[in-house]
Amino acid sequence: MIQISYVSSSAQPMPTSELLDLLQQCLTNNAARDVTGMLLYGNATFLQTLEGEAGVIDALYEKILNDPRHTQIKCLYRKPIEQRRYADWTMGFKHVSEESLHNAAGMTDFSQRDFTYDYLTEHESVADNLMTHYAYWDPLVRAVDERDQRIKQLEKTLASAHGQVDVASLVLESLLQAEGEDSLGEHHERLCRLALETLKKG
Ligand SMILES: Cc1cc2nc3c(=O)[nH]c(=O)nc-3n(C[C@H](O)[C@H](O)[C@H](O)COP(=O)(O)O)c2cc1C
Repeated sequence: MIQISYVSSSAQPMPTSELLDLLQQCLTNNAARDVTGMLLYGNATFLQTLEGEAGVIDALYEKILNDPRHTQIKCLYRKPIEQRRYADWTMGFKHVSEESLHNAAGMTDFSQRDFTYDYLTEHESVADNLMTHYAYWDPLVRAVDERDQRIKQLEKTLASAHGQVDVASLVLESLLQAEGEDSLGEHHERLCRLALETLKKG
């Protein structure tokens, strides 16, 4: 599989109805060809990432290059991938607005005004950041999944910490008891080593 990302300009700001037509075409065609990706549009500028089988994507990109609805198409990269970034999206679409950029991680200096052909072609890493940002922007499911996973991880960490504290407490108690009884011996040394090992594992 490969992934291609490019920036282009629409000669005029594209009317919403034409944008919808374009999107409809993307959705129908891409579903049939197992193509996934993301299309961002704002300030008469397109930023799109396409992913799928190399032959399919190269052929599609060739068509896109010849599409009169946009000009100045500049490829940002074409690279092999093992996993899709937009596996769930036949073609995710985002109309870039100030609001949607608000809170975008690592993009405090980026504003909607910067979503232009010139800026994006000169700042390829920003283009990629945007694509990553929007990859996680929408389905609530994703956020919930992520939160669930984090909670499970925390529970595991907590359970293991509790376990370690319990072992360490037991060893300390038995040491104190043995000290009181004047019966400290090899047995306690072994217990101390066991407790140390358990603590280090965490
Ligand atoms: C910015 C832009 C993005 C496009 N993205 C896609 C796409 O993801 N999938 C697609 O099939 N066509 C896309 N197209 C349309 C293609 O250029 C072309 O018109 C279409 O693939 C032809 O489809 P057809 O072979 O069914 O006639 C895009 C066009 C533009 C201007």
